[in-house]
Amino acid sequence: MKYREGLNELPTYDVTEKDWDIKLNANESNLNLPPLVEERLLNRLSRIAFNRYPDTENDDLKELIAQNFKVSIENVLLGNGSSEILEKLFFAFGGPSRNIVFPIPSFSMYKIYAKISESTAIPVELEADYTLDPEKIVNAANENSAKLVVVCTPNNPTGNAVPLASIEYIAENIQCPFAVDEAYVEFHGLSAAGLLEKYPNIIIARTFSKAYGLAAARIGYMLASKEITEMVSKACMPYHINTMTLMAAAIVYQMRDEFVPRIQMYVAERKRMAEALAKIDGITVYPSDTNFILIKYAKATELNEYLENLKIGVRSFGNAPRLENCLRITVGTREENDTWFKVLKGFVERG
Ligand SMILES: Cc1ncc(COP(=O)(O)O)c(C=O)c1O
Repeated sequence: MKYREGLNELPTYDVTEKDWDIKLNANESNLNLPPLVEERLLNRLSRIAFNRYPDTENDDLKELIAQNFKVSIENVLLGNGSSEILEKLFFAFGGPSRNIVFPIPSFSMYKIYAKISESTAIPVELEADYTLDPEKIVNAANENSAKLVVVCTPNNPTGNAVPLASIEYIAENIQCPFAVDEAYVEFHGLSAAGLLEKYPNIIIARTFSKAYGLAAARIGYMLASKEITEMVSKACMPYHINTMTLMAAAIVYQMRDEFVPRIQMYVAERKRMAEALAKIDGITVYPSDTNFILIKYAKATELNEYLENLKIGVRSFGNAPRLENCLRITVGTREENDTWFKVLKGFVERG
């Protein structure tokens, strides 16, 4: 068989799962939908016209999102997860001999989307403490005539948010579109969406997979200028989001107040766990504004194996550059957190 050049060398994003008792490896919500939301969703299911193609253009969901951000529906593009949005942004602005700037370490898919779109990735290293120097991003973008800059805030996997002043500084000083990946913003509370009007090069990518617990449905969206939205939508397949998902996401969005208590719970639990972890000798805890915590520990590989054997799944970064001996732990429910913490503490204290 003769496949496309480079396909075989493309790194794969590992999505294989084990039979976890406590799953803390993908930054999902560990709670399923709130009962009221689930009830409404199940009631609506019987009214779906399964025989018809989805109405992706005149959908309620776009209208609801537009209303919330006080933008027009022409500024909203829905995606099959924010993954689709990101992949299409790399496709729309990238291509052969076109440079795309993003920080590392950050969301590992950026590198893959750069490859798939045949763009040239220009990675910019975060500082030693994983903070982002906006000047370095601006310089990399301008020196390489970048066609797109992507910054994730709060950042996966490091957890820390980029100050809005830095986001604004980048938007103001680069000459290309600037995608801000806000997959975890609900756990932080400060969005760059308010900068959209002032900086037409800003693109906000959001997801329902994290705070809104809808990872199974695959839905995300982007907010951008009318021109960018129109151009990026050209790269999407017709009917790229199914009717069940559109219906579920519209209900979740209408009922998003139902999610506030659990978002508060995750934030409180993140603080509690970060403080508890910091008290264990030998563990470095990085500041987090998300629903996960990144830690460094000399025997991270052994700890990961130990947790795996007890059916507790966390994300290990092995020897990934700048993430050696790091584990990323999604914050679960209070009970789950008490369980994994006890196991982890016992392992570290036994040395
Ligand atoms: C930073 C970041 N962006 C985007 C995504 C993609 O999320 P989804 O495609 O589920 O919306 C993820 C998922 O883990 C992520 O961590």
